[in-house]
Amino acid sequence: MTRTLLSIAAATCVAFGHAAGAAGDAAAGKEKAAQCQQCHGLDGNSPTPQFPNIGGQHAKYIVQALEDYKTGERQEPVMAAFAATLSKQDREDLAAWYAGQGGLYTIEFNE
Ligand code: HEC
Repeated sequence: MTRTLLSIAAATCVAFGHAAGAAGDAAAGKEKAAQCQQCHGLDGNSPTPQFPNIGGQHAKYIVQALEDYKTGERQEPVMAAFAATLSKQDREDLAAWYAGQGGLYTIEFNE
C-alpha cells in the first residue's frame, strides 16, 4: 500500500513537473475553503475528531487526495461529492491555502 502511494506520488511529480510552479493561489484557496470549513475548519484544523486535520499538510498530498476522491481511486462518499465539484485550479488553490496554515492541534481527544 505504502509502495503504491509512493508510486502514485512519484508519478504525480513527473506528470506535473515544474508546471506545478503555476500552483495554487492561497488567497483564492481561502475563499474556496469556506465550503470545507464546517468539517475541516477554515485553517484545516478540524473542530472534531470525526474529520481529518489538513492544515499544514503537504500541498501535493492534498491535491492528490482530492484527485483520488474525484476519480474514485479513494472512496468516501462525502469527499467524493465535494471533490467532484472542484477544478484543477480549485484543488491547487485549496492545497496552497491549507499547506500554509499551522500544523495539527495537540488538543487531546482520547478520552
Ligand atoms: C461534510 C464534511 C466534509 C466537508 C464539508 C469536506 N470534507 Fe474533506 N473530509 C471529510 C471526511 C469525513 C474525510 C475523511 C474521508 C476518508 O476517510 O477518506 C475527509 C478527507 C479529506 C481529505 C484527505 C485527508 C487525509 O488526511 O487524507 C482532504 C484533503 C479533504 N478532505 C479536503 C477537503 C476540502 C478541500 C473540502 C472542501 C472543498 C472538504 N474536504 C470538505 C469530510 C468533509
